[in-house]
Amino acid sequence: MSIDVGGAYSLRAAEYVDLLGSMSSVHPSDLQLVTTWAEQVEGPLLDAGCGPGHWSGYLTDRGVDVSGVDQVAEFIGHARATYPSTRFEVGSLDALAVPASSYAGVLAWYSLIRHDPDSIQQPLSEMARVLQQGGKLLLGFFTGAVVEPFEHSVVTAYRWPPEALAGVLGSVGFELEETHTRTAARPKPRPHGAILAHLASHR
Ligand SMILES: C[S@@+](CC[C@H](N)C(=O)[O-])C[C@H]1O[C@@H](n2cnc3c(N)ncnc32)[C@H](O)[C@@H]1O
Repeated sequence: MSIDVGGAYSLRAAEYVDLLGSMSSVHPSDLQLVTTWAEQVEGPLLDAGCGPGHWSGYLTDRGVDVSGVDQVAEFIGHARATYPSTRFEVGSLDALAVPASSYAGVLAWYSLIRHDPDSIQQPLSEMARVLQQGGKLLLGFFTGAVVEPFEHSVVTAYRWPPEALAGVLGSVGFELEETHTRTAARPKPRPHGAILAHLASHR
């Protein structure tokens, strides 16, 4: 049985917006990493799985040409109302409704944490398709020693060893640039990873 991730977020959208839908919930080192990376992207940037849109709104204010996409209509409604200068669309990361080579960068900040190992190649292939050659990808995700599911608020999420995720990225045409990890002394916040890559070839 496949999990209805969009439906699960939709049911708890207001709660999610209150808890995590602003830049005040972002870890300071993530803020620095994502901001520095986004400001170096030369061209349009897609905030893929933008949720309530706070990254998009924040980056727009920093002069980045960013648009957001998410499957949850409630998040997109909130994002449009809160960040009127930024473009937001309802859409699926598994089938992005834009032509090939549309973007210079894709930010996938914790938006692929619900994809299992059998399904994660599809959105990553889509991100490769919509990126220009050499285009930049930044992924944020939960780390762990092995790929495994765990019960997370909203719906099941997956932990990935960075090298396992880097292997999937390589299979769809990305070349790894940097990996960042952050351990956690307590169960929360959870161990975190970020991968910076660029599109080496369209497959
Ligand atoms: C944990 S939230 C992260 C939101 C935001 N990027 C942030 O950093 O706060 C994951 C988001 O990815 C979106 N998402 C997950 N799978 C998706 C898919 N297949 N298509 C579109 N959006 C998806 C969810 O709807 C949710 O808004």
